[in-house]
Amino acid sequence: MTPILEVEGLSLHYRTRFGGRIHAVDDVSFTLEKGEILGIAGESGCGKTTLVSGLMGLLIPPLHRSAGEVRVAGRNILGLTPEEARRTILGREVSMIPQGALNSLNPTRKVKDLAADVIRSHDESVDRAAIHERLRERFTRIGLDAEAVLNAYPVQLPAGTKQRVVIGISTLLNPKIVIADEPSSALDVSTQKAVIRLLFDLLDEGIVSSMIFITHELSLLRHVSSRIAVMYAGQIVEMGTTEQVIFDGRQPYTRALMGSMLSAEPGQKARKPVAIEGAPPYLGQELHGCRFAPRCPVAKPDCAERDQVLRTVKNRLVRCHHAE
Ligand SMILES: Nc1ncnc2c1ncn2[C@@H]1O[C@H](COP(=O)(O)OP(=O)(O)OP(=O)(O)O)[C@@H](O)[C@H]1O
Ligand SMILES: [Mg+2]
Repeated sequence: MTPILEVEGLSLHYRTRFGGRIHAVDDVSFTLEKGEILGIAGESGCGKTTLVSGLMGLLIPPLHRSAGEVRVAGRNILGLTPEEARRTILGREVSMIPQGALNSLNPTRKVKDLAADVIRSHDESVDRAAIHERLRERFTRIGLDAEAVLNAYPVQLPAGTKQRVVIGISTLLNPKIVIADEPSSALDVSTQKAVIRLLFDLLDEGIVSSMIFITHELSLLRHVSSRIAVMYAGQIVEMGTTEQVIFDGRQPYTRALMGSMLSAEPGQKARKPVAIEGAPPYLGQELHGCRFAPRCPVAKPDCAERDQVLRTVKNRLVRCHHAE
């Protein structure tokens, strides 16, 4: 069966005002099967949100494609204009839970009007009563007091309810893939966990079938995803099952990222997180050798010169020629 999402050799760059290019996503490839939850983790600035723009077909200048393809259910979506992508992909094929979900609702309109817009963008002919019925049914199904919530303004709702409303509206059109992209600035792991619980409700209800959960908090993915891709400086540096990546990372960056996590798992001995010294390389220059080498605790002299490719190590993909 064709995977629901296929990303093949995707490279994306931002054009700068001075004619330069920031290579934010570099040769990224992966697939997502129907029913699967994929986690993507990496430090701030490694290209996660840029990758999401590509997955939604939203290449809006200064963001451009350098190479590669994104196929949703077999159809290449990167040839579309942003306007076409909005009309045909967003919300119905791929939907994103907005970053900072709580503040993404227009405060001047009632929830029912905000939600009705989404349905009308899909089908202009549907009448008010039918829309209301559909919203009532969906909001009830995701555990909301539908009548009260639909008639409220966003500011009148408690945070947890508002979050549920945002996710409910983002998934009204039953998208095949939902992407939750958590900003690194949101250090509130309990909020992220609440979002995850909600998304699992949507999976249980059969409203969505596949999901990509993006976070800087690698350990958060432990109970969420079946597979994880770790990104560093625009590239995937390790990709494997959740078990492999979290408990047996083979790429030194994966291990450093796990070691830098704050949250200790229940039953695990509390340990001091070890920050990763230094900063990722600037993506506006041509890069040679291993991109992590300057920060890598186990780097060898040849790492700085040798360009790294993804290769199979212990049944997962690793970008490090010393990994075994
Ligand atoms: N509009 C832009 N113009 C130029 N460079 C940009 C632009 N937006 C992002 N970048 C750069 O692209 C790279 C990837 O940024 P991106 O936002 O995708 O990272 P991220 O992994 O989502 O980070 P975070 O965890 O902070 O959300 C960074 O180096 C960033 O500075
Ligand atoms: Mg981001």
